[in-house]
Amino acid sequence: MALVLAILCFLCGNAILPSSASSDSFLQCLTSMMPSELVYQQSSSGFMSVLQSSIQNPKFLTNTTVRPLCIVTASDVSHVQAAVRCGRWHGVRLRVRSGGHDYEGLSYRSVQPEVFAVLDLARLRGVRVVPGEGSAWVDAGTTLGELYYAVGTANPGFLFPGGACATVGVSGFISGGGIGLMMRKYGVGGDNVLDARIVNAAGDVLDRAAMGEDLFWAIRGGGGESFGVVVAWRLKLSAVPPTVTVVNNLRTMEQGVAYLLAKWETTILSPSLPADLTIRVVLQERHAFFQTLYLGRCSELLATARGVFPELGMTAADCNEMSWLRAMAFIYFGNAATPPEALLNRTNSLGTYFKSKSDYVRRAVGKAGWDALFQQWLSKNGNGLMILEPHGGAVGGANTATTSPYPHRRGVLFNIQYGSMWWGEANGTAAAAALRWLDGLYGFLGQYATSNPREAFANYRDLDLGQNVVGRDGVSSYRSGRVWAEKYFMGNYRRLAAVKAMVDPSDYFRNEQSIPPLPKF
Ligand SMILES: Cc1cc2nc3c(=O)[nH]c(=O)nc-3n(C[C@H](O)[C@H](O)[C@H](O)COP(=O)(O)OP(=O)(O)OC[C@H]3O[C@@H](n4cnc5c(N)ncnc54)[C@H](O)[C@@H]3O)c2cc1C
Ligand SMILES: *[C@@H]1O[C@H](CO)[C@@H](O)[C@H](O)[C@H]1NC(C)=O
Ligand SMILES: *[C@@H]1O[C@H](CO)[C@@H](O)[C@H](O)[C@H]1NC(C)=O
Ligand SMILES: *[C@@H]1O[C@H](CO)[C@@H](O)[C@H](O)[C@H]1NC(C)=O
Repeated sequence: MALVLAILCFLCGNAILPSSASSDSFLQCLTSMMPSELVYQQSSSGFMSVLQSSIQNPKFLTNTTVRPLCIVTASDVSHVQAAVRCGRWHGVRLRVRSGGHDYEGLSYRSVQPEVFAVLDLARLRGVRVVPGEGSAWVDAGTTLGELYYAVGTANPGFLFPGGACATVGVSGFISGGGIGLMMRKYGVGGDNVLDARIVNAAGDVLDRAAMGEDLFWAIRGGGGESFGVVVAWRLKLSAVPPTVTVVNNLRTMEQGVAYLLAKWETTILSPSLPADLTIRVVLQERHAFFQTLYLGRCSELLATARGVFPELGMTAADCNEMSWLRAMAFIYFGNAATPPEALLNRTNSLGTYFKSKSDYVRRAVGKAGWDALFQQWLSKNGNGLMILEPHGGAVGGANTATTSPYPHRRGVLFNIQYGSMWWGEANGTAAAAALRWLDGLYGFLGQYATSNPREAFANYRDLDLGQNVVGRDGVSSYRSGRVWAEKYFMGNYRRLAAVKAMVDPSDYFRNEQSIPPLPKF
């Protein structure tokens, strides 16, 4: 019996780590099915620049990073099908990359040594909007900035409720749920998808009708990579008035920022706060930056804000009235004069190393807590920050069984993103100090954040939360997935794993934090 098991494991081990012969046959298969100039092998002169093209964090550009065998730059859905079919036939896994913003770089690197290919979708982009129509087909490699630009120029009067960062890929954003300044009005990214086209593990293209409602539910927030390669999304667009208002208010420790935050977090609870109004807060060093987006004019905003949050002291002089498209550019670039065309720029600067973590808060922190946070943590490190994204409104009331898998809804006050930055080396003393500070801050917030599970946001991927363990059957174990996945997906983890068992039981599409298949008992 032991011998039989040993032989079985030896065989499955071979299937997981392909030999150089199967790498060669994989490459031959690819080049027989698509133009060879779209496949960049490590020896190609363009390999490094294509690999780097959408990497956001130089941490994953070191010479110890596990790199792909090749990068497939698909420019047509048939190339995606070819990559999946060749990959399955020859035992080479794919890492799918759209915008490349994954916080742990899992769309283009493997944590453990592994032979894999990157399927890069940056060439597969385009937005088809019809003026006056409340929906758009969006190719998978499109960025949020490209989507905003297409909607704002071709279909003014509509918006898509995305995030603040224009270079984030639409596909990764939706695959992890997708939060932003318009979600209190219209829900998370995954709630705003009407249809999708996915290439499944057999290499077939399925639309919503063909994939069925369970898979269609899972791909709208159950995490990228796990279920197949999404090649296009049909997104719901929503109405926006011709003029919206953006306000930035900076308040320092000396100006009583802790008191303001204590007022802010109780305001979020108030049902009288209209969903047209969102005030997110960025905390850094000795100040808080209150960033307001109001889906309407300044005069209405002031009437509302003075009623619900008079302590902030917002005035007409603070208001920046503009179109929704210009507001998206202003919020991202921080300059009201930046033209909307800048939202089309996909170039990364790759200057700053960073590590992020996340939390959800369901009970108010209170003035004493905010005071301690500034005194003991933020004021001690100018290279750290926290971003607080208020929930409530359309997100707070929704039920995930009928919407999309994003589980942090009813009762959540706000999401926290922690960030710690450094410069110099990926893994030197500056990195160690930055990570120590971040771990300490995360430990300190434990008393205020949710527990059992300590909720985390799938789009702010954090490998500290855990990684899948691949079992003897060559499949990621459901039990190992619970450790991290119940933080991201809470009670939805089991349903996601059941969908995975249905569509990819052999676990071809996987990474360190993909959904494992639910075992059959
Ligand atoms: C500067 C910055 C700001 C951010 N701001 C926000 C924000 O405001 N709100 C928010 O919700 N998130 C935000 N994020 C997080 C971001 O949404 C996630 O990192 C998201 O996964 C990025 O999507 P991507 O396509 O750029 O990433 P990728 O690295 O390309 O992909 C991310 C994951 O999805 C998988 N994937 C990608 N494309 C596909 C596809 N077509 N089919 C199947 N799987 C796919 C990848 O394999 C990977 O596992 C931010 C990130 C950064 C770096
Ligand atoms: C990796 O990079 C470091 C410096 O960044 C260098 O010292 C080292 O020699 C490199 N190793 C290899 C194998 O190239
Ligand atoms: C695009 O963005 C990069 C990185 O931020 C910047 O260096 C570059 O100047 C921008 N290009 C244009 C044309 O704005
Ligand atoms: C950083 O260096 C330490 C000590 O050399 C090592 O244990 C750790 O694995 C390294 N981390 C990364 C991400 O390379």
